[in-house]
Amino acid sequence: MDQQTYLENINAAAQAIRQACGEADIAVVLGSGLGGYVDALSDAACVSYADIPGFPVSTAPGHAGKWWTGLLHGKRVCMMQGRVHGYEGYDLKDVTLPVRVMKRLGVKTLIVTNAAGGVNTSFAPGDLMLMTDFLNLSGKNPLTGPNLDDFGPRFPDMTHALSRDLQRLTRDVAEKLGVALQEGVYCWLNGPCYETPAEIRMLRALGADAVGMSTVPEIIVARHCGLESLGLSCITNMAAGILDQPLSHQEVMETGERVKDTFRALVDGVIAAM
Ligand code: HPA
Repeated sequence: MDQQTYLENINAAAQAIRQACGEADIAVVLGSGLGGYVDALSDAACVSYADIPGFPVSTAPGHAGKWWTGLLHGKRVCMMQGRVHGYEGYDLKDVTLPVRVMKRLGVKTLIVTNAAGGVNTSFAPGDLMLMTDFLNLSGKNPLTGPNLDDFGPRFPDMTHALSRDLQRLTRDVAEKLGVALQEGVYCWLNGPCYETPAEIRMLRALGADAVGMSTVPEIIVARHCGLESLGLSCITNMAAGILDQPLSHQEVMETGERVKDTFRALVDGVIAAM
């Protein structure tokens, strides 16, 4: 797709969402398990991704595919209930189109949640992890291609891709709520297969604490266009080879389900404190 068509898609999607739900200051991408959090919005309006021109529609089971906007703790918050992933076959430009739409809608802060495998052996399934940084080992980058000068520079800095202020705030909120919070480096791989035990040993040697198939493209694009980002992972399973058992999507879903109330309370506390 040429740049002009892509920019038109962004503007058309932003206009459709603005009409259906209005603008927002904070955006939350709800990973699997957290979708119910949209109930917390008051004066909420929503629109299905399928009804937003140019918007990518998820094929993953358990991803509802709706954009919500409403009031939460006195702030205008939009929530993405479901997202698409590179492994579904989407171009990363489309995976990250929603972030550029957020920018057009006035969003300043992006909170991205995900499910991840624990690479750090001191983690346990059900732990929550504050992303302090990331490793992009996917071999891909959502900013590949002509730079979108309207959004940001050709060579954006990634030193503070994840906002240190939001990390500090999240630590404080977790402590006040009594929520145990791990911290670490999230490694993005394309998927969709889970990693091999050898890959997990390699990732650990390279400094990864968790591994997953999402979030990093969104954070890169958010940084490019000047949004502050916070990344939070639910460690749904220990990564391949750490325990003497195979990984399953079912385990990922079950752990997500088990800790979703705590995860939600943390995100909610962060938004309240912002
Ligand atoms: N690997 C990659 N992605 C994941 C995992 C994992 O172990 N668990 C949840 N998402």
